Amino acid sequence: MRFLAISGSARRDSTNTALLHSVRQAAPPGVEVVVFDGIASLPVFSPDLEGAVLPAPVQMFMDAIAASDGVIISSPEYVRAIPGGLKNAIDWLVSGDLIIAKPIALLHASHRGDDMLANLRVVLSTVSYRFNEELFLRLHLMKMSPDEIARTLAEPENRARVQQYLQAFAEYCRG
Ligand SMILES: Cc1cc2nc3c(=O)[nH]c(=O)nc-3n(C[C@H](O)[C@H](O)[C@H](O)COP(=O)(O)O)c2cc1C
Repeated sequence: MRFLAISGSARRDSTNTALLHSVRQAAPPGVEVVVFDGIASLPVFSPDLEGAVLPAPVQMFMDAIAASDGVIISSPEYVRAIPGGLKNAIDWLVSGDLIIAKPIALLHASHRGDDMLANLRVVLSTVSYRFNEELFLRLHLMKMSPDEIARTLAEPENRARVQQYLQAFAEYCRG
């Protein structure tokens, strides 16, 4: 079972990206989490660019989606909405058939960002009929450094929460 974990933040010390790396490290046997860190390299989506040959970063993104059994997204809120880079990445997937049946679940690294979450849920339930809104894990990591997040996620209680989340998502993906 392989999950592609996409961060909505391109920030070097992103709490969302650090969360996904900690989730990768906590993955139980049989579950592999691959963190995708390429959203900043995707060109701005235009249908004009959707020819037989896609821009190389887009093709890499598509290949990573295709190779995954499920997608996990963790994103900050920017101006009460989905960050442009993440929305752009999702836009690249809309006209193809890679995303429509792909299981998707959310993680969230902040106690804030509910407007973004509400909008992201609308978007994801539009692009995939297997977006699982109920499967959601929220950790309060805002303003923490990547090292602090690694330590926080290594705490037995948090590690167990992450493992339960991954097991539940794996079950959902198998179903
Ligand atoms: C351009 C910009 C806009 C933001 N807008 C909001 C917002 O509308 N609401 C909010 O709660 N936080 C907002 N924030 C704060 C981020 O959501 C918050 O710092 C988040 O934890 C950053 O995630 P990251 O560590 O993964 O980059 C904004 C931050 C930036 C840089």
